[in-house]
Amino acid sequence: MEEIIQINNVKYKYNDGREALKGINFCISEGDAVGIIGANGAGKSTLLLNIMGALFPSEGEILVKGMTITKKNLPKIREAIGMVFQNSDDQLFMNTVYEDVAFGPRNYKVPEEEISKRVKEALETVGAAHLIDRPPYKLSGGEKGRVAIATVLAMKPEILIMDEPTSALDPKSRRKLINLLKELNYTKIITTHDLDMVLDLCNRTIVLKDGQVVADGDTKTILSDSKLMESCELELPLSLQSCPICSVK
Ligand SMILES: Nc1ncnc2c1ncn2[C@@H]1O[C@H](COP(=O)(O)OP(=O)(O)OP(=O)(O)O)[C@@H](O)[C@H]1O
Ligand SMILES: [Mg+2]
Repeated sequence: MEEIIQINNVKYKYNDGREALKGINFCISEGDAVGIIGANGAGKSTLLLNIMGALFPSEGEILVKGMTITKKNLPKIREAIGMVFQNSDDQLFMNTVYEDVAFGPRNYKVPEEEISKRVKEALETVGAAHLIDRPPYKLSGGEKGRVAIATVLAMKPEILIMDEPTSALDPKSRRKLINLLKELNYTKIITTHDLDMVLDLCNRTIVLKDGQVVADGDTKTILSDSKLMESCELELPLSLQSCPICSVK
């Protein structure tokens, strides 16, 4: 399969000198669902921001569909990638939920009729159809999270990047999102502390620690490796832990 994303020796240093990525190498094939996991501060969000071209590597390069990410070809890259940010307030800035979800497709000159259809569909998918006329800044954290996901679904991107998509969702919305993501054939990259979601959704898992990749492979193999998980300040997913009462796996 074609490598849709290539990350070649990427380092990233923030302005204050903090080295958040210390030489990252991996490729992602079209259609892959990849979970990126790691403790707080491991570099997950920084990596995603580099992949979508919101930050540029200090060293190394990232190719999306064979194009190196540069300022010049950013519009093309952005057309292929949709990203749900860790903080929904970074994603929502219009006066109504409708306008926020319509914003992306409108930028790409999708006809208004099609936009209206996509907005309704995307909001329904995340269980937020009833919020359509509300001002985003007056929503609860979980409501904002759902709308943020809808803004990206409405773009129908080839590559879907999500930074902690389930952290603000209640259990029912979480399950709905996981089921939806399973159905979508896009290439998916998801960072999360929700390891049961990774197990459910991602064929491949990459573990980051201190700005470096420490493991990369089959999700179940990685998530059931208790030594590896412990050394990265992670735990086995609940569904792979023994029952606390009877100790049966
Ligand atoms: N704007 C910034 N300026 C300086 N350092 C930053 C900035 N943003 C993040 N960092 C640092 O870069 C490192 C990686 O942070 P990053 O946000 O990528 O981690 P993360 O794995 O996404 O963590 P979390 O699980 O908490 O979301 C951390 O040491 C963090 O303190
Ligand atoms: Mg993060």
